[in-house]
Amino acid sequence: MEKLTVAVARRPESIGRNARIEGWVRTRRDSKGGFSFLELNDGSCLGNLQVVADGSLPNYETDVLRLSSGCGVSVEGALLASSGHGQTTELKAASIRVLGMADPEQYPLQKKRHSFEKLREWAHLRPRTNTFGAVMRVRNCVANSIHRFFQDEGFLYVQTPIITASDCEGAGAMFRVTTLPLDNPPRRDGKVDHAADFFGRPTYLTVSGQLEAEIFATSLGKVYTFGPTFRAENSNTSRHLAEFWMIEPEMAFFDLNDNMDLAERFLRRLVRDTLDQCAEDMRFFEQFIEPGLLTTLEGVASSAFRRVSYTEAIGILERCGAEFEYPVRWGADLQSEHERYLTETVFGTPVVLYDYPRSIKPFYMRVNDDGRTVRAMDVLVPKVGEIIGGSQREERLDVLEGRMREQNLDARDYWWYLDLRRFGTVPHAGFGLGFERVIQFLTGMANIRDVIPFPRTPGSADF
Ligand code: 4AD
Ligand code: MG
Repeated sequence: MEKLTVAVARRPESIGRNARIEGWVRTRRDSKGGFSFLELNDGSCLGNLQVVADGSLPNYETDVLRLSSGCGVSVEGALLASSGHGQTTELKAASIRVLGMADPEQYPLQKKRHSFEKLREWAHLRPRTNTFGAVMRVRNCVANSIHRFFQDEGFLYVQTPIITASDCEGAGAMFRVTTLPLDNPPRRDGKVDHAADFFGRPTYLTVSGQLEAEIFATSLGKVYTFGPTFRAENSNTSRHLAEFWMIEPEMAFFDLNDNMDLAERFLRRLVRDTLDQCAEDMRFFEQFIEPGLLTTLEGVASSAFRRVSYTEAIGILERCGAEFEYPVRWGADLQSEHERYLTETVFGTPVVLYDYPRSIKPFYMRVNDDGRTVRAMDVLVPKVGEIIGGSQREERLDVLEGRMREQNLDARDYWWYLDLRRFGTVPHAGFGLGFERVIQFLTGMANIRDVIPFPRTPGSADF
């Protein structure tokens, strides 16, 4: 018997086929006429397949009437046109085999509605819910779309290290990697002696693959990374994870404008592909998670982003009359409330902010002629705020060395990075897109913990 997924079985073209469908029971409904309806889901799509189980099945009383939410079954039968609401097909069962029971007294998802907070405690079961199934399908679609976009644009996919000795963002919030015994590490001159450590030196989990990506951009042209990133900041917000995925394109011979053009084209493509390829899941998010989502995304896919300098943005925020928790002042970093005000209230579109004060940005961003600002850019979107951070890179050796001194960085630790400026330095630029932030934006999910399979946040790394 041919195996079909629920997604295929639900299509009108499948009417008349005989097939085996395997999945998990969502609900069972018994009819007075001596037959039952099972709603079957296998994760291939949001919708369920209705199975009609007739009382004449040999195991109707022994098996079918014991089925409950969560049971795993294999059903063979004929796909027929259905008159039921919200479905074109249904499966008339010729046989039903129980693969695994799920005790309704104990199965946590027996009850229909749970809060997202509660579901986080069941990271092993939540993918069986409508919301997480839809989130995971959108994640998959976006991951595919990211690779296709860059491959279409002639980029090379590079893999940068997860264990690293350098700190890209200079934020000092890194996880250590060590095999030294924590209870009694070897010491020399009162300090932990890393000579005896696995790598013979202190090492960390990467906060960004950018510096390594620059190596490949300045030899191979246009490259991108797509990998896990780790930050040990104690940020307990709905937009921060300690482990998240980041996409970092890096391009030789690109200036900041080229960088902004690429970021805009890239985000628009991700939105378009998701709307086109995940239509059913996206209607679910519109209906149950964030009304208005589809209109917002259609707008993003079809209209240009606003480009505003940091200095202009500060002026707008100072004059707008809104009350903010954090004061607005030239030279201070923008807070999430400011970013959201700009993109949601002032412009109603994604906004690209550029030319930030040099004092609040990392050493590698190119210093502008005014001496006060750097060629940084952040892309802000409604609800999420910052989704992309990037810049044109400082390609002038002397300026870069000066910036490192300014930020108390030891040039010896970055000798290879400086070599890229010593030997054939060229203008180049790049950015980082937070994968979970873009999934939040596309699905309307309020908390970033609910768009990644296993969230890691301060005090929480179960599973
Ligand atoms: O702005 P960030 O820190 O930039 C960099 O790391 C650069 N090296 C990127 C580059 O130019 N190649 O981070 C980039 C993006 C942010 O805009 C945000 O979307 C996401 O990564 N991000 C986080 N996402 C989830 N949890 C966190 N703790 C995040 N920190 C940053
Ligand atoms: Mg940033």
